[in-house]
Amino acid sequence: MRAMEAGMRYLLLGLALLLAAFAGTAWAQQAQETQAQRQQVQPGNNAPVWRDARSGKEGFTTVKGRETGVLIQTEGQTWRELRNGPITRYGGWLVVLMLIAIGLFYTLHGPIGLHSPRTGKMIERFSPFERIAHWSMAISFCILALSGLTMLFGKHVLLPVIGYALFSLLAEIGKNLHNFVGPIFLFSIVVFVLKFIGDNFPRAYDLTWLAKGGGVIGDAVVPSGRFNAAEKIWFWGGVIGLGTVSCASGLVMDFPNFDQTRAQMMLANSVHVIAGILFIVWSFTHIYLGTVGTTGAYEGMRNGYVDETWAREHAQYWYQDVKAGRRELPSGESGAAVAASAPPQTQH
Ligand code: HEM
Repeated sequence: MRAMEAGMRYLLLGLALLLAAFAGTAWAQQAQETQAQRQQVQPGNNAPVWRDARSGKEGFTTVKGRETGVLIQTEGQTWRELRNGPITRYGGWLVVLMLIAIGLFYTLHGPIGLHSPRTGKMIERFSPFERIAHWSMAISFCILALSGLTMLFGKHVLLPVIGYALFSLLAEIGKNLHNFVGPIFLFSIVVFVLKFIGDNFPRAYDLTWLAKGGGVIGDAVVPSGRFNAAEKIWFWGGVIGLGTVSCASGLVMDFPNFDQTRAQMMLANSVHVIAGILFIVWSFTHIYLGTVGTTGAYEGMRNGYVDETWAREHAQYWYQDVKAGRRELPSGESGAAVAASAPPQTQH
């Protein structure tokens, strides 16, 4: 009896499988016929065509140009996930954490002050041309940084607060400013580098300066040239290094009329965003040290003159060379003329 039952069960199972196979074949046949019909009535709008398009395969088109036959570019999805995923997430955290770190440093350590009192005698630190070179680079950088941050983080940070209308207006203005100020920034970097490169070559004493953390460790005066080791690293790594990468990748996107492929544009975009975030985060430290972080530094780049005490403590070897007449002042006057030409100390 049992054996018969088991046999019956197997027979039923076999029948069911056969039926399923038939149904499947019938369904597949049906699907094929539908596709064949669809190919007649709507050629190019059916599953095989969309499968090809989705795979990134190049199809036929009458439109001339590179990649015009590629309807959907599969790598585009990867780029979007990368840009809206890790780049935005970790980039955002980097920006926030650097601002917190600077805030903490300022609260715990306070500004880097002078060890001896000001003399009231001012010495020229930057010529008018040098300051124009710095500020045209700095201001164009800030416009690029703010518009770039808006394009990357705006929809997460600004949109929920200011709403679609205002955000899209800001984003539109920001995007156009970004596209036009980019080349100006590049030009100002070239001028700046040509003007300042002579004072940024590494010297042996820079290593001592770095080893002592520029005097922050142990609160001592550590001698340096016209620019200290941290400024030189910012010059080579930031302005020249990240400046070149962000400008070159920016130009690839700004002038898409060199037959770039979409893959090249996506690569340029990813490189540009990563270099841009690193440049912005690094600039926070420079801007902090160039404003509230170092007493007396800002006035040097603002009106060109610093107090002699500042020069002696922050650029000792440069100050000594100027005083000894071994080098000229930035405007070309001899160092000996320091006392005569300096404006009276401005009250702060
Ligand atoms: C917007 C805010 C900025 C402020 C307040 C600022 C302030 C200053 C100050 C006070 C100095 C003179 C420091 C000294 O006497 O040694 C300086 C130098 C310098 N700044 Fe800025 N800066 C700003 C933005 C920038 C930006 C965006 C860049 C680069 C893209 C930059 C690049 C430099 C460089 C390279 C130096 C000279 C250091 C060297 O050549 O080694 N600055 N800045």
